[in-house]
Amino acid sequence: MELLQLFSVILLLSLFLLADHHVPQASAERSTYIVHMDKIFMPKAFSSHHYWYSSMLQSVKSVVQTSLDRDNLESKLVYTYDNAFHGFSAVMSEPELEALKKSPGFLSAYPDDVVIPDTTHTYKFLSLNTATGLWPASQYGKDVIIGVIDSGVLPESPSFKDDGVLPESPSFKDDGMTAIPARWRGICQEGEGFNSSLCNKKLIGVRYFNEGVLAANPGVKISTNSTRDETGHGTHVAATAAGNYVDGVSFFGYAPGTARGVAPRARLAAYKVLWREGSFESDALAAIDQALADGVDILSISLSYPRRNLYENPIAIAGFGAREKGILVSVSAGNRGPDYASLLEGIPWAFVVAAGTVDRWFTGTLTLGNGKTITGWTMFPAKAIVRDLPVVYNETLSACNSTELLEEAPYSSIIICNITDDNLDFLFLMNDLARTFIPGVIIVSENPSIFEASSFLQPAVVITRSEARQVIDYALNGDTPTATIDFQQTVLGMGARAAPALSSFSSRGPGQGYPGILKPDIMAPGVLVLAAHSPYSSRASIGNNIHLSSDYNLLSGTSMACPHISGIAALLKAAHPEWSPAAIQSAMMTTANPRDNTNQPIKDMGLGYEVASPFGIGAGQVDPNRALDPGLIYNATVQDYINLVCSMNFTTEQTQTILRSSYNCSTPSSDLNYPSFLVLYESQETRTTSMRTFKRTLTNVGNGAAKYKVKVEEPNGSTITVSPQTLVFRRKYDKQSYSLTIRYTTSSEFFSTPGSITWIEENGNRTVRSPIVVNGPYYND
Ligand SMILES: *[C@@H]1O[C@H](CO)[C@@H](O)[C@H](O)[C@H]1NC(C)=O
Ligand SMILES: *[C@@H]1O[C@H](CO)[C@@H](O)[C@H](O)[C@H]1NC(C)=O
Ligand SMILES: *[C@@H]1O[C@H](CO)[C@@H](O)[C@H](O)[C@H]1NC(C)=O
Ligand SMILES: *[C@@H]1O[C@H](CO)[C@@H](O)[C@H](O)[C@H]1NC(C)=O
Ligand SMILES: *[C@@H]1O[C@H](CO)[C@@H](O)[C@H](O)[C@H]1NC(C)=O
Ligand SMILES: *[C@@H]1O[C@H](CO)[C@@H](O)[C@H](O)[C@H]1NC(C)=O
Ligand SMILES: *[C@@H]1O[C@H](CO)[C@@H](O)[C@H](O)[C@H]1NC(C)=O
Ligand SMILES: *[C@@H]1O[C@H](CO)[C@@H](O)[C@H](O)[C@H]1NC(C)=O
Ligand SMILES: *[C@@H]1O[C@H](CO)[C@@H](O)[C@H](O)[C@H]1NC(C)=O
Ligand SMILES: *[C@@H]1O[C@H](CO)[C@@H](O)[C@H](O)[C@H]1NC(C)=O
Repeated sequence: MELLQLFSVILLLSLFLLADHHVPQASAERSTYIVHMDKIFMPKAFSSHHYWYSSMLQSVKSVVQTSLDRDNLESKLVYTYDNAFHGFSAVMSEPELEALKKSPGFLSAYPDDVVIPDTTHTYKFLSLNTATGLWPASQYGKDVIIGVIDSGVLPESPSFKDDGVLPESPSFKDDGMTAIPARWRGICQEGEGFNSSLCNKKLIGVRYFNEGVLAANPGVKISTNSTRDETGHGTHVAATAAGNYVDGVSFFGYAPGTARGVAPRARLAAYKVLWREGSFESDALAAIDQALADGVDILSISLSYPRRNLYENPIAIAGFGAREKGILVSVSAGNRGPDYASLLEGIPWAFVVAAGTVDRWFTGTLTLGNGKTITGWTMFPAKAIVRDLPVVYNETLSACNSTELLEEAPYSSIIICNITDDNLDFLFLMNDLARTFIPGVIIVSENPSIFEASSFLQPAVVITRSEARQVIDYALNGDTPTATIDFQQTVLGMGARAAPALSSFSSRGPGQGYPGILKPDIMAPGVLVLAAHSPYSSRASIGNNIHLSSDYNLLSGTSMACPHISGIAALLKAAHPEWSPAAIQSAMMTTANPRDNTNQPIKDMGLGYEVASPFGIGAGQVDPNRALDPGLIYNATVQDYINLVCSMNFTTEQTQTILRSSYNCSTPSSDLNYPSFLVLYESQETRTTSMRTFKRTLTNVGNGAAKYKVKVEEPNGSTITVSPQTLVFRRKYDKQSYSLTIRYTTSSEFFSTPGSITWIEENGNRTVRSPIVVNGPYYND
């Protein structure tokens, strides 16, 4: 399977299920291992960790002199790591690994595994505007550096140009992209089709990492040995986070407008770790390790890892190192939804992002010969002529589930496909239709996955069941019934469906890596997001063999949601340079909106548009302008995260793998000062009443004194007491603590409706909200 296809929207939905299968390593004899070391044990004689690790590897090689013949993998060091954590990756045999385990300073090792990669309008949907709020306050993210760990970038994309100024706003005059900050230590690594003059003041650094790919597949030919993006995924992600202004873009006539990233004045550094030839954790780790040394402020990671244990999850481990250095790490939740606990990682110290829809509707207009018009859903990528053709309804044919049947369809007519929602395979249907000469199709379906898909190979429009009634009636009983379909229309705002809605593919919590903290944290746009893409790969098709190219592409996935949060984090960092990653995350979470644009609770497309749970949307949809001025924040120090890891019942080695040697586990605590509350109980046999108390501390980041009063919504089946009920802050940065006690009765009921706690400012308009979830039982696997 080509990587290219992996990124295509529909396949995302099905293929990502493969993520659970570990791909076997290239050689049964030797494989790449990632090794964690305690650097305290490094003998003084070594001038650097690199020499220590290579000498260690040499000595285990000589100890284990075996006849590992016919093995084309040579034992060797692949990478050494020193910023995000201490250790290295190396190709080794199992006996060598066993010998290595006896070396002083050895903490843990696990095999290198594969990693999987999970606009014109989204900024408006997020209410970012030039007049007020976060954009002008942050000078559009001026000088904050976002590191994107992905498939590289296409440097020629207009989204990465560094000229031009932004439209003038009342409160801020843009100077364009100014000189690169002096603290930047990265480079523009040359490579195939990528010389160093391709970096500029927007794209300030690029590097690529493929030693892990080569170690697993010796002798493999790397098709583009540079940071040049071959698939468009990394380009899309980077442009979404911090692309510059580009006028007049669209996806084959849909979603036309000016493309721009969330933080158009932030800097981008691209680290390529996803390759056509394979994608390995050792490469991703090397990229994160280097990004920390280069001086990024935000790490945007739209990749998935099949690992559940935090002490073996590279993003968790390297992410801890990043957080320690004050770098916010934003990661995609994954595309394994909509099942409960389909979120594998759930890293407590990363900002985990779910994907929701945008208030935009791609439409085609169906006009019947009797004058009736219906607005349906389509993304057919051209202005097809489907005009005044006979429209037929034949019940046998309407299942549209066999090519033989479809080939018998009446000549030159529009047919009606009435699809059973449960077993709809949209790509399958489109492939079948594409083999016929049917000039136009009316598809009757309410399956939400259609609205996450962009692959319309055949001129077709999707309508609802109730709309279908009159169309079928007209087709059966009308006097020479005809119809016309017009394509390439885009409807914005309230004309579209209520938005945002949670996508069905977005992974649902609780996170299996650590179910103690509610994950995902927040939701951002991730369905059909328009951003820069590679024109060298097919972006849409007509029929089975006409493939179309586009510089801009609509993609769906939590991969697309994550860079929105990275971009907003960059804006907040620019507006409030003194805020810690925890403060930035808290500001976004406590101001997130659990309601959609019709002021109803956000719905879940994966659960038949029922109310979405915080396990799907976290605190809700991000609201950047409110996050600028959250009033209060839940802050956390590095020691707080250390205390959390210390509470996880890991072995010393496992703990040290994450925390390295410089930690103090004397005060373990699972009660992290986090902006959400989660109780997961396990037993459901008998109804028993239990109690859990959380302690939280809020810091006033508003200017001057403030008083807040509590408002609580209880989850059903629980009672909540908060003490004290009023918090008085005398000045900026004042801290106040409160306790929240949940009394709940365990029951065999799986779900209880979630609750919330909101601190409401008196004589002000700030509100500080956290979701509260009491749920059980939690099944591990
Ligand atoms: C890729 O390029 C780098 C330097 O540009 C070189 O060191 C390396 O050997 C190349 N790798 C492959 C697989 O061609
Ligand atoms: C990089 O490529 C550009 C365009 O192909 C060329 O003009 C320039 O001389 C190259 N620079 C270097 C340092 O090779
Ligand atoms: C197509 O759908 C019809 C009605 O649901 C069903 O009876 C028939 O067996 C299906 N045919 C195939 C080839 O799946
Ligand atoms: C409906 O379609 C089937 C299969 O193409 C065909 O055999 C049948 O004659 C059609 N019925 C009508 C009324 O046209
Ligand atoms: C369309 O399909 C649905 C579900 O399969 C069925 O209930 C309905 O009767 C069909 N409508 C028509 C007009 O055949
Ligand atoms: C939050 O905690 C960090 C680490 O202790 C500290 O540097 C920062 O000033 C605190 N406050 C805010 C608003 O980030
Ligand atoms: C850790 O182990 C202790 C004692 O065995 C137990 O009480 C506690 O619940 C465990 N904590 C977690 C998070 O599993
Ligand atoms: C660890 O922290 C505790 C409490 O803060 C302190 O009493 C103790 O001395 C620390 N231990 C070390 C080794 O730093
Ligand atoms: C909470 O309410 C939901 C929906 O009404 C219900 O299904 C569930 O059983 C209730 N749970 C508890 C613990 O009462
Ligand atoms: C909140 O109140 C302040 C003044 O108290 C006002 O300037 C601001 O516009 C208000 N914000 C909102 C979102 O209502």
